[in-house]
Amino acid sequence: MGFIMAASGSAVGLGNVWKFPYIVGENGGGAFVLVYLICIAVVGLPIMLSEFTVGRKTSLNPVGAFQQLQPGTPWVGIGFMGVLAGFLILSFYGVVGGWTLAYVVKALTHSLDQFTNPSEAGKFFGTFIASTGEVMFYHALFMGITIAIVIRGVHGGIEKACDILMPTLVVMLVILMIRALTLDGAMEGLKFYLYPDFSKLTGQSILVAMGQAFFSLSLGMGAMITYGSYLPARENLTSATLYVVLFDTLIALLMGLVIFPAVFAMGLEPTEGPGLVFSVLPAVFTGMPFGWVVSILFFTLLAIAALTSAISLLEVVVAYFIDQKGWGRKKSVLTMGLVIFVIGIPSGLSFGLLADSQLFGMTFFNHVDNISSNYLLPLGGMLTAIFVGWVWGTKEAHKEIERHETTFHWAGYWEFVVRYIAPVAVAIVFLAKFFPTD
Ligand code: PFF
Repeated sequence: MGFIMAASGSAVGLGNVWKFPYIVGENGGGAFVLVYLICIAVVGLPIMLSEFTVGRKTSLNPVGAFQQLQPGTPWVGIGFMGVLAGFLILSFYGVVGGWTLAYVVKALTHSLDQFTNPSEAGKFFGTFIASTGEVMFYHALFMGITIAIVIRGVHGGIEKACDILMPTLVVMLVILMIRALTLDGAMEGLKFYLYPDFSKLTGQSILVAMGQAFFSLSLGMGAMITYGSYLPARENLTSATLYVVLFDTLIALLMGLVIFPAVFAMGLEPTEGPGLVFSVLPAVFTGMPFGWVVSILFFTLLAIAALTSAISLLEVVVAYFIDQKGWGRKKSVLTMGLVIFVIGIPSGLSFGLLADSQLFGMTFFNHVDNISSNYLLPLGGMLTAIFVGWVWGTKEAHKEIERHETTFHWAGYWEFVVRYIAPVAVAIVFLAKFFPTD
């Protein structure tokens, strides 16, 4: 259980609670959700098992792992790309993590449960993310906490925290879902979220759905290789994979059932973007029985979930410098943590001071997110699938998976998707994006 909870701690985070609802809202609802689920099943699931297997086989960081399995070949590049992706993702993840910490404080001071009408909550958020000092302060605080935890290299502590955190998060989401679904006009939202309107799909939205599958499951950058490398041989990799994937997907889907009924019932816009959850939930807390307590609990849980994911992002970067460059843990964590914080500053300012400094119609924040989530992760994942499927070979991988007398029941499915479906699917989505037909 400990390992499943730790890996879920990495997977479940802002991706499920903050990002999933807002990109579903921006990309038209139900059809996008369906594409997302397909990506999870045919791309995410097989790649997660591949990453766990490479990690446990080698007990090394992603760079070291590929080096050991195919010494002196360019495959080690997957590992380097992963370190770069971890670096970039954490730079904006820390900003949003900071927003959640700020909202814990705002919840405590009764700022999030007393809006006179739903659109006030959105304005409140807009003012907050535009305020340089406050955003920077909480961004620094979030990164500081992440750094402090990773310096100690605590694995046990994280697992224990996740044991309590994850189930509590589910309970909270169910409570909020019931509240949202019983609001007047909630059905419109359900329809938007669950009824697939395929005319809303574009090459770009399919790319975003795939990127989100990787982002949400923490795949394509070696985070799960790193987690797998801490695993003792007796753990069952296949059932761990199934649990983590199911759990992560459950949380994202639940979150959609909270947000969309509320958005439509309150006459708000689903296309609001990165502020969606922060603008809508406080409107839900307002007027809800025990809304104050719920607002505090919710944002506290979200902040912790964000932290357990941020830890895994930083760990990938740091493990590389420790294992491959021979740096000490303290030096690696402090140096890289600080550099990542600095790179994140323009992302933090992208909703205020730098909101108008756009390139190709996107802010700095959007670009870093887009490059890392929609390109680096799927590319890393595709190469990992090719590596495990064809280079290292599913035969070797299969041996590792069954090392301790577990029988791998869905080996046939896995081998087929890892070799053929996952790489081809990612390639098609990329090609469709680069050579649009419409
Ligand atoms: N999976 C995390 C989330 O959904 O918030 C984000 C993440 C963590 C992505 C670790 C990638 C990663 F390696």
